[in-house]
Amino acid sequence: MSSETTNRPDRTFKVVGLPGDGIGPEVYASACQVLDVVQDRFGVHVQLDPQLIGGAAIDASGSPLPQATIDACRQADAALLGAVGGPKWDGNPVDRRPESGLLKIRAEFNLFCNLRPIVTHPALHGFSPLKPDRLENVDLMLVRELTGGIYFGKKWRKGDRAEDVCSYNREEITRVTRAAARIAQQRDRRITLVDKANVLETSRLWREVVHQVIADEFPDVQVENMFVDAAAMHLLNRPADFDVMLTENLFGDILSDEASMLCGSLGLLPSASLNEEQFGLYEPVHGSAPDIAGQGIANPYAMLLSVAMMLRHSLDCPEEADALEQTIFACWNEGILTRDLVENGLGTQDITEAVCQRLSARKSSGHYSGNTPGLHLQ
Ligand code: IPM
Ligand code: MG
Repeated sequence: MSSETTNRPDRTFKVVGLPGDGIGPEVYASACQVLDVVQDRFGVHVQLDPQLIGGAAIDASGSPLPQATIDACRQADAALLGAVGGPKWDGNPVDRRPESGLLKIRAEFNLFCNLRPIVTHPALHGFSPLKPDRLENVDLMLVRELTGGIYFGKKWRKGDRAEDVCSYNREEITRVTRAAARIAQQRDRRITLVDKANVLETSRLWREVVHQVIADEFPDVQVENMFVDAAAMHLLNRPADFDVMLTENLFGDILSDEASMLCGSLGLLPSASLNEEQFGLYEPVHGSAPDIAGQGIANPYAMLLSVAMMLRHSLDCPEEADALEQTIFACWNEGILTRDLVENGLGTQDITEAVCQRLSARKSSGHYSGNTPGLHLQ
């Protein structure tokens, strides 16, 4: 192999591949091609172990998260997921819905810390529905609690009534606060805690715990409080003012889709879901987009940026992560874009080839600044 890094200890990793449904397999295939280049060019060996999740798993085994997938993840350093869901399974009972597979894998592996970086890029300012002047210098990290709250509380339905319970305990809030604070320490040391403490008791517990953890353990980090309704507004009005945004599960879900519009398309947003053992599930924020599945036009950038996050946070390869991100940004500068952004845009395969070509031609593994190391939660 033409690796410049052969003098380093063997860097071989196991990653479970979870193509999933809809456009999931298409963007997953793009990730596999790019990982081949990462191997050839930089000597990072990723052994992919493809497994089933979501609707594809329901069709094959009856379960959205088969035991074989869980067992494979236990042996792996990370998992890379395309997307789950589709109209075919919409009428299924809750434990046989594709989304249940996603929620189960998050719970099974304690993936409590969900990172969704929102960074605008000058070449894409014109594609956002917001005015370009609002988009300058937007670089915020949304830290979403991912294994608690209303998503995982008791749920019931009886006749004409239904209930979803939102519950959090001190420990759940403490660990994600520590994660957010460590990220803030690598950035501008400012956290905006987003809640609804004027109405919700869980939010009042969040405020108490977050402020206590920061005061006791991270005195160099500042915390400001913001109600979620105001945060939704300020994200559009003055997005560049945020550094780290910390919030609970449901608010984080909603705000991350909103924030994706700053970047130009939901097809550009990656995510990492981490536990304390450095295992992570990496996936685009977008869904399975069944309306365009199978046409070869899906935007692979969110998936490829998720690969970069995986290199950084679970595989300890920050230089290669930087190299991949820089390559993607260079493609954006060149106007190498899909149809969700430009009319007559390129297809998934064309974009993938452009990224692979430029990545393999890079002189070194990146201009690693030391600013974006991985996050170790233990
Ligand atoms: C996300 C998705 C999921 C969520 C769905 C698919 C269950 O919207 O990751 O943002 O709500 O968490
Ligand atoms: Mg969502």
